[in-house]
Amino acid sequence: MKIGICSDHAGVEYKSKLISYLLRKGYEVVNFGTDSTERCDYPDFANPLGCSLEKGECDLGIAICGTGNGMAITLNHYKSVHAGLAWNTKVGSYVKTHNNANVLVLPARFISYTMAVNIVRIWLTSEFAGGRHQRRLDKIPR
Ligand code: RB5
Repeated sequence: MKIGICSDHAGVEYKSKLISYLLRKGYEVVNFGTDSTERCDYPDFANPLGCSLEKGECDLGIAICGTGNGMAITLNHYKSVHAGLAWNTKVGSYVKTHNNANVLVLPARFISYTMAVNIVRIWLTSEFAGGRHQRRLDKIPR
């Protein structure tokens, strides 16, 4: 399982810790940056992740910025991306079981790192429930 990960300056610290966590858990990880705390523009890092998912080079993605919204808005412009924001473990589970998000977006300025890693764990181990949720996804224009 190959996971692409990106952040802006607001999410870089969580990204770096999450990369170590994912590698320890045996995932293959592709880091799309940023790797600096210098102020930067989230689309510069969301776009390479979106392109790699579009080409099927990564299986899943994780994107982190201050609120999560910049990353989610950018990534949802890619046809093969369903990016969903989660701020607690319940939402982290629903974003997979209900929304089938293939990109998890985290709001680094509003959750602790412990919460972030717990959300990632739950999202990775939950399964899409299908059924009525698939019907709803089918109504989303692509
Ligand atoms: C950066 O200050 C902040 O705007 C960014 O991390 C994010 O929250 C944008 O949606």
